[in-house]
Amino acid sequence: MKNVIAIDLPQPSTKIIEAIKKFVALQTISIDSKNKLEEFHHHTINPVSFNFFVPDFLTLLVRKEYQHFFPHHQLKGMIGVFKNHTTSPACMPTHIDRTRAIGLNYFIDSGGNDVRTFFYDREDISATGISTNVLYSEVTPIENFIAKPNTWYCYNVRRCHSVENIETTRTFIALKIIRPGLGLDSDYEYNIIDFQKDYPHLCIGS
Ligand SMILES: [Fe+2]
Repeated sequence: MKNVIAIDLPQPSTKIIEAIKKFVALQTISIDSKNKLEEFHHHTINPVSFNFFVPDFLTLLVRKEYQHFFPHHQLKGMIGVFKNHTTSPACMPTHIDRTRAIGLNYFIDSGGNDVRTFFYDREDISATGISTNVLYSEVTPIENFIAKPNTWYCYNVRRCHSVENIETTRTFIALKIIRPGLGLDSDYEYNIIDFQKDYPHLCIGS
């Protein structure tokens, strides 16, 4: 199974991009997130600080532009920000996302010229809603990937992954896709295989 697939969706409009940039410029990305990661990894790495936002204005905008591509789901818009506070390359260290099983991401700012997502030989399908940090020493990389500009991707974020070599701030928009009948705020169970079955025409390779 592929861990990342390019998705055939149009780029977000200038309206969405500008609204996100304006919103992010007003946010404080708490250093606490960086401190916690440093502690977990025994101060052996230089993590980013990070935050995720799900503002109502973005959900309204993404539903206008993207809802019709996803007849089986209801969309929400999320913003991810990974910020390097230092002059050395930083990382989002090895972890498994549990708030979502797939990441449908479009990078507004890649955060550097050679930012790579690594996937590792551990996958966890249990759904708890809480992300799990993993030590680098516990896993082995199996695949790595540089996202092309102006492209949507679907990532298998149930597989352990990290983002390496972030020089500045990495900002992305993510589509949260939720099966409406479940009455959930997030759909923890829905995975990349389900996505390929529901939307094969959107999956254009990696
Ligand atoms: Fe992740």
